[in-house]
Amino acid sequence: MTQPLLELRGVAKLYSQGSGLRALWPGGRQQQMALAPTDLVIPDGAAIGLVGESGSGKTTLSRIAAGLSRPSRGEVDWQGTPIEALDPEARAAWRRELQYVFQNATAALNPRHRVRRILHITLAGLWRGSEKQRDQAGRHERINEVAAQVGLGRVLLDRYPHQLSGGQAQRVAIARALLGAPKLLILDEPVSALDLSLQAQILNLLVELRRDLGLTYLFISHDLAVVERLCDEVHVMHDGRIIEQGATAEVLSNPRKSYTRRLLAAVPRR
Ligand SMILES: Nc1ncnc2c1ncn2[C@@H]1O[C@H](COP(=O)(O)OP(=O)(O)OP(=O)(O)O)[C@@H](O)[C@H]1O
Ligand SMILES: [Mg+2]
Repeated sequence: MTQPLLELRGVAKLYSQGSGLRALWPGGRQQQMALAPTDLVIPDGAAIGLVGESGSGKTTLSRIAAGLSRPSRGEVDWQGTPIEALDPEARAAWRRELQYVFQNATAALNPRHRVRRILHITLAGLWRGSEKQRDQAGRHERINEVAAQVGLGRVLLDRYPHQLSGGQAQRVAIARALLGAPKLLILDEPVSALDLSLQAQILNLLVELRRDLGLTYLFISHDLAVVERLCDEVHVMHDGRIIEQGATAEVLSNPRKSYTRRLLAAVPRR
C-alpha cells in the first residue's frame, strides 16, 4: 500500500473545565473528553467526509489533523513522519501542502486589504526563503492562474472582503488555500453558511478542483447530502468518537448505527 498523506493515530483531546477559585479546589477542575482516542487515515486522492451533530468533535478532530491544535494524546503523521519530527524543509512543505478552509470565509480574510493584496501576502509568505521570493511577475501570474481556477474575475480581486457575498468570499478563501499548490484541503463546514444554490456552486467547484488538480479532501459537514456530493468515504462522529465509517453510498443507503439513521432522517436528501 502506498503511504497515506495524513494519518492520525490515537489522537484525543481533553479540555479543562472550570475556572476561577473552583479550579483551585481539589476536583474543581474537570476534564472534558472532546475527542476520544481516534484513528483516521487519509490516503492520497481520497475525499473523506466527517459528519455528526453539533458538538460531536468534528472541528476538534479537523484542527488536530491540520496541526492547528495539539492533541492531548496520540500522533499525527504527514506522509509517514510525525509532524513534530519533520525537518525544516519537510515542515515548510507540510505547511504549504496542507491547507485549512474555515467556515466563515469573510471573517477569515483581512478586512483592510483588497482581495488581490490578501492573495499577494499569502503567496509572499509561501515563497519566502525560496528562489521565487523576489519574483513579482511570477506572483502576479500565479494569483491570476488561481483566480481563474476558482472563477474570481478582476472586479472581485479589486474588492475588499466586506464587498463580497458569502459565496464569493468562500471562493477567495479557496483560492488562497490553492496558492501553494496543496495536496490536502481540510474544509470545516465550508458551505454551511451559504444558501442552497451557492452551496451547489461551491461544491461543484470543489468537485472540479479535485478532478483537475488531484486534490485530497477532508470535508467536515453536518449535512449528509453535501457529503454525498463530494466524498467517496464518510466517517460519522458522535460524542467525540467515530462510530461508523465506510463508502459514502454504503453508509447512506445502509447505515448500521441508529445514530446515523437519525442523522439521515434529520436532513432532507436532495
Ligand atoms: N476550546 C474549548 N474548550 C473547551 N471545550 C471545547 C473547546 N472547543 C470545543 N470544545 C468542546 O468540545 C466538543 C466538541 O466540539 P467541536 O467544536 O469539535 O464540535 P463540532 O462537531 O465541530 O460542532 P459544530 O457542528 O457545532 O461545529 C464540544 O462539547 C465543545 O463544547
Ligand atoms: Mg465545528
